[in-house]
Amino acid sequence: MLDTDIYPKIDLNKYQKEAHLKDGTKIFIRPMVFEDQEALYEFFKAVPEEEARYLRDDVKSRLLVEAWAKNLDYSNTLPILALKDDIIVADATINRRRSGWKWHLGTVRVFVHNDYRNVGLGRLMIDEVARIAYKLGIEKLIVEIPDTRTATINTFSKAGFHRAALIPNMVKDRQNMPVDVAVMMRDIKPAQDDSYDYAF
Ligand SMILES: CC(C)(COP(=O)(O)OP(=O)(O)OC[C@H]1O[C@@H](n2cnc3c(N)ncnc32)[C@H](O)[C@@H]1OP(=O)(O)O)[C@@H](O)C(=O)NCCC(=O)NCCS
Repeated sequence: MLDTDIYPKIDLNKYQKEAHLKDGTKIFIRPMVFEDQEALYEFFKAVPEEEARYLRDDVKSRLLVEAWAKNLDYSNTLPILALKDDIIVADATINRRRSGWKWHLGTVRVFVHNDYRNVGLGRLMIDEVARIAYKLGIEKLIVEIPDTRTATINTFSKAGFHRAALIPNMVKDRQNMPVDVAVMMRDIKPAQDDSYDYAF
């Protein structure tokens, strides 16, 4: 059972943060709201086909992005956006189940706009997701990455994720071709141990 009292709390409706990338660009980080729908559609429209092919969802579908905006429920899927001015430059999500044997896990996804890569934004989003996960009482974060996506695997490795498994032919890409998936995990906090003090 999740005992939320032992974890620091976070008010997701008030959470927001400013940060600077390695090149000095100032960005603003906050959860997605309904009004972000159009900007999120534009963000995913810019994803090159070669990369879209390996994403879990058909992110270029307007209907899908509309459904995400209409059905926002942070306790199930928490989308965190990085914005420069009013333009979305990165999107990260934490998926959780609040009951059952996976209540303590969060599944992460991160995507950085092509024009904003290699200036520390991916790492910043992963670190921010880990901080939020800690405050939500999540014990472990998991990410599933097509095994060929070495940049993504490297980025998560550098952010403290380790390769827990390689599952052959686990998913199918947009062309219906089988793809091996690396499952990577990062411990966020020990099971039900409120005495452990992570330096977040
Ligand atoms: C992976 C991704 C998030 C990296 O974002 P980014 O903002 O360019 O990464 P950063 O600049 O923060 O780099 C983080 C670290 O990863 C390394 N890295 C980033 N891109 C890399 C690449 N192409 N090859 C090797 N290492 C790379 C960087 O060197 C950096 O290491 P450092 O901290 O030692 O300098 C981005 O390329 C992306 O969105 N790719 C698509 C993601 C995807 O497929 N998501 C779905 C599954 S979650």
